[in-house]
Amino acid sequence: MEALRVQLLAEKAENSVPSQYIQPPQNRPQIQNSNPNIKAAIPLIDLGSRSSNLLDELKKACKEWGAFQVINHKVPIGLLDDMRRVGRTFFEERTMEEKLRYACDSGSPASEGYGSRMLVASNDTVLDWRDYFDHHTLPLSRRDPSHWPDSPADYRKIVAEYSDHMKALAQELLGFISESLGLTCQCIENVVGEFYQNITISYYPPCPQPELTLGLQSHSDMGAITLLIQDDVEGLEVFNNGEWVTVNPMSNAICVILADQTEIITNGEYRSAQHRAVTNAGRARLSVATFHDPARTRQISPAFHPPKYRPVIYGDYVSSWYTKGPEGKRNLDALLI
Ligand code: OGA
Ligand code: NI
Repeated sequence: MEALRVQLLAEKAENSVPSQYIQPPQNRPQIQNSNPNIKAAIPLIDLGSRSSNLLDELKKACKEWGAFQVINHKVPIGLLDDMRRVGRTFFEERTMEEKLRYACDSGSPASEGYGSRMLVASNDTVLDWRDYFDHHTLPLSRRDPSHWPDSPADYRKIVAEYSDHMKALAQELLGFISESLGLTCQCIENVVGEFYQNITISYYPPCPQPELTLGLQSHSDMGAITLLIQDDVEGLEVFNNGEWVTVNPMSNAICVILADQTEIITNGEYRSAQHRAVTNAGRARLSVATFHDPARTRQISPAFHPPKYRPVIYGDYVSSWYTKGPEGKRNLDALLI
């Protein structure tokens, strides 16, 4: 059965969402009633400052949040804008027929292309109010730009350029993160091995019942490190100290999200961030997430003794994630010794 695209549902302009999109009460987004003046915010780190405090700031952000935004990251802001522009063009200016030419294989997890369902496992999971386009970008042997949209004319060039910049930033950040724990700069990257990088553009159409739905259910990312940019519409939230905190959209910032393999490698010194996306009734929202993962055959284990997590073959971790679903961080918790 052809997966239904959320954008089509949104365009029907009904005033209620189909039942498969309704979250159980405990997962619904709460209307925040805490005092906005004392509201927590995810840390903002200036990578250009090169102050001696940088590693301390990073350490605090990784320990307390597992997520932070960076500015002065050396990725040209124009490239971030270009990436958002080509993504938006695909979702908003191509016809559904054109988009469906790039449909991903909905029967296999993380297949490249245009899709709507992250999980293929069961029919009773609540669906996310989101469509996406997933690009396989690294290693170069996986990169085939002919699988990507060819319009606007610079689409493929922008995605390739963006991929290279994200890889360099991910390497730099894993270096800092290693050093902030007293490890050698290369330590985490050496455990991860060659990066398997995917770039997912997510498109969250306006939703008639944002209080009942989620754009993307609560999860932590599976791989090592995720770099995310968003447009000017709020929606990404990180769970911290018992509350969901909105990540303030900033056009020049990149949001860094530590993922599960980094939690394992750092032996739990740094935790992967639990996060989700909420919807809104007014405006469509676009984000671009770049995932950096180990090869499926790679064994991941803690870099400290005694280990608090069992070693895991990354491919086995991914399979269990896709079969059971994320539900917060239960897949990672299952590896705790
Ligand atoms: C993801 C993700 C959040 C967002 O794709 O894993 O967490 O804001 N995306 O789109
Ligand atoms: Ni995520």
